[in-house]
Amino acid sequence: MSYPVLLTLHLFGALVFIGTVFFEVLMLEEVRKYVERDAMRAVEQAIGRRARRIMPWVLLVLYGAGIGMAWTYRAVLVDPWRSGFGTLLALKILLAISVLGHFGTAMTWMVRGRMSLRRSRIIHLSVFVHMVAIVLLAKGMFHVGDWSL
Ligand code: HEM
Repeated sequence: MSYPVLLTLHLFGALVFIGTVFFEVLMLEEVRKYVERDAMRAVEQAIGRRARRIMPWVLLVLYGAGIGMAWTYRAVLVDPWRSGFGTLLALKILLAISVLGHFGTAMTWMVRGRMSLRRSRIIHLSVFVHMVAIVLLAKGMFHVGDWSL
């Protein structure tokens, strides 16, 4: 698949994923204060069901396209600390892997019945911070020079 196609797929995947995380943290958390508890739980369960349906596909496209593009930069990624671009891209990939780790942790907690409101908030907030950093790194990596210059 060509680089522009991968980039477009990656961008759409990122839009949906980042949009969902931002919606949950910036909107839902605040809305909770004004909605009755049972109604809120019903809404969250419905959102959860929808997310479980579409998110695996979104993540597949996002990470698949990301890996496809990263292949182009494999020579840089062999020694990422030599250039600004390589360093920022490597950090971005590490953060993306950490996001997957968050998912794994959340799934484990849910399956074992150990997911609480507090844990759910911490996971959401942490993924939110990861998203902000990933976007800054993704956009910044093309504007940092070579460390040796
Ligand atoms: C949570 C997961 C991820 C998010 C939210 C994310 C988000 C983004 C965003 C917003 C861009 C900028 C796209 C643009 O300017 O059009 C980008 C670029 C990029 N991402 Fe990701 N990304 C993720 C995971 C990954 C992974 C796992 C890889 C590789 C293994 C990767 C590799 C890249 C590369 C190489 C670019 C540069 C594309 C270019 O502008 O030429 N990303 N990413």
